[in-house]
Amino acid sequence: MNAPSMQGLALNAPDYVKHPGLLAWVADMAALCKPARIHWCDGSEAEYQKLCQQLVDAGTFIPLNPAKRPGSFLARSDPSDVARVEDRTFICSAKKEDAGPTNNWEDPAKMRATLQPLFDGCMKGRTMYVVPFSMGPLGSRIAHIGVELTDSAYVAVNQKLMTRMGKAVYDVLGTNGEFVPCMHTMGAPLAEGETDQTSWPCNPTVKYIVHYPETREIWSYGSGYGGNALLGKKCLALRIASTMGRDQGWLAEHMLILGVTNPQGRKYHIAAAFPSACGKTNFSMLVPPKGFDGWKVTTIGDDIAWIKPQDDGKLRAINPEAGYFGVAPGTNLHTNPNCMNSLHRDVIFTNVALTDDGDIWWEGMEKDHGGVLPAHLIDWQGKDWTPESAKGADGKLRPAAHPNARFTVAATNNPALDAQWDDAAGVVIDAFVFGGRRSTTVPLVTEARTWTEGVYMAATMGSETTAAAFGAQGVVRRDPFAMLPFCGYNMSDYFQHWLDLGGKLRAQGAALPKIFCVNWFRKDENGKFVWPGYGDNMRVLKWMIDRVEGRANGQDTVFGVAPAYGELNWAGLDFSPAQFGIVTGIDKAAWQEELKLHGAHFEQLAHHLPQALLDTKAALEQRLQAA
Ligand code: OXD
Ligand code: MN
Repeated sequence: MNAPSMQGLALNAPDYVKHPGLLAWVADMAALCKPARIHWCDGSEAEYQKLCQQLVDAGTFIPLNPAKRPGSFLARSDPSDVARVEDRTFICSAKKEDAGPTNNWEDPAKMRATLQPLFDGCMKGRTMYVVPFSMGPLGSRIAHIGVELTDSAYVAVNQKLMTRMGKAVYDVLGTNGEFVPCMHTMGAPLAEGETDQTSWPCNPTVKYIVHYPETREIWSYGSGYGGNALLGKKCLALRIASTMGRDQGWLAEHMLILGVTNPQGRKYHIAAAFPSACGKTNFSMLVPPKGFDGWKVTTIGDDIAWIKPQDDGKLRAINPEAGYFGVAPGTNLHTNPNCMNSLHRDVIFTNVALTDDGDIWWEGMEKDHGGVLPAHLIDWQGKDWTPESAKGADGKLRPAAHPNARFTVAATNNPALDAQWDDAAGVVIDAFVFGGRRSTTVPLVTEARTWTEGVYMAATMGSETTAAAFGAQGVVRRDPFAMLPFCGYNMSDYFQHWLDLGGKLRAQGAALPKIFCVNWFRKDENGKFVWPGYGDNMRVLKWMIDRVEGRANGQDTVFGVAPAYGELNWAGLDFSPAQFGIVTGIDKAAWQEELKLHGAHFEQLAHHLPQALLDTKAALEQRLQAA
């Protein structure tokens, strides 16, 4: 242990921490970051309450009206710190080619030399929290452990809701268990005697989210927000875990997991990948519409799936998280009633608006109030907001909640939580679903004819950009497997990993999960969405189950097997064959153009691109030619 260089700071480790490697690491990091004190989180309710009160006292948390949202708080971030920072996210593998063309890369030694002076003294005047967490049910053979060192109490309390955090993790770790070390600092040290001038400390100009895949380390500097700071989520459970999966033969995916039970009581499990902001949380909490009596959809996870092959050739999945860090705007009783009902109590809201009676509000909530906007709010930046004062010259309203405003809530708040959500054995995956946001070209649903064709569909999926996020509006951003910002290694090696896994399971004689491609977002010639979406996605989900059960024939198309109109249950919805034609149509010219774009995408990923995907493309081109 590096005790002398800790300059008198007591490590004060509780006696239940018996892992010499962990103790030495904490001591080294304390010596580097030079916090004023160390707090070892035990994960207890009392600790959570105490830290929340501390955040209230510091002005970071505003307690909400206990009669309206008991146990809930609002935090407002610095305007410079409102989202993940993809351009400041680095995969520092030893070789550049292992990070691949879709990741920012820097030489690990160079990056360490850059970070060393930044982390030196970065926690001065602050508390360093030691946050032990299990991603996945404690002790599950699919789970892994991380320990985050952070100077943010906001991160510590969020981690309590988002992970299995606390003392029990040390029992699993024992004296020599493996853990992923996760270093986090807001990058806002205090000078001697200085107190915080801000309720959201961060570094407004310097941010680094760094991963070292070979040594499985995460170093995050300068941001306190979401995936930049809650290091179990995107950094560990996706970027580092995807490389662990590559090396160990399993999958870490940007997928929700849901259970769907038919009226006969037979239950299936679906893992579905959608890019950020395409309604993953909504799909994972779907409420079947009228006409689906006896059907039940239950949530296992809303964002991430860890999937490990078993000896019997089945794929078993867990949700490594224990809570939801969801986008608030757009959520309402129509788009996601189960989510709204998860948010009645014990929630941390970040960057939503505050009502005059101490409750929260965001864009989309007016739909639950007959379209009526609140007469007055405090917006996410703490400023007065009225429908009149918020109106810009273009007649559009300045949003009261930030478009990336979030709620953090424990999964146990979800009324549709699956009974197996915490099952250490995980659930058997029956089908994978991949979907992007495309106003044209990609049909409502198709099923891949083979595993390889499914991998092709996932490798080429894309979403139309929204102006705010990624430059020009309406441009298709390819987001393979919805993993573009989250794959910790070369994307083409990742495709190969999926192909290899399929081959391995097939060799074991296992029936591979089916793979479907969906698109809820086709528009008509007036630019209006044609498919109703949300709960009505159940109609598509049921067709998938029918296919798994061998009860629907489907019809062969250029781009996989698609349902005939009559194969979907239309009870309770007026949706004509003509409308169905609009959302399922395969336009030859559009697909010729699309395949050209797939070609350009593959050119960018040429290094190690599996030949099987080029062969699949050639086969699709031929089918299209013949169509
Ligand atoms: C998320 C994301 O926050 O994908 O889940 O950005
Ligand atoms: Mn996500």
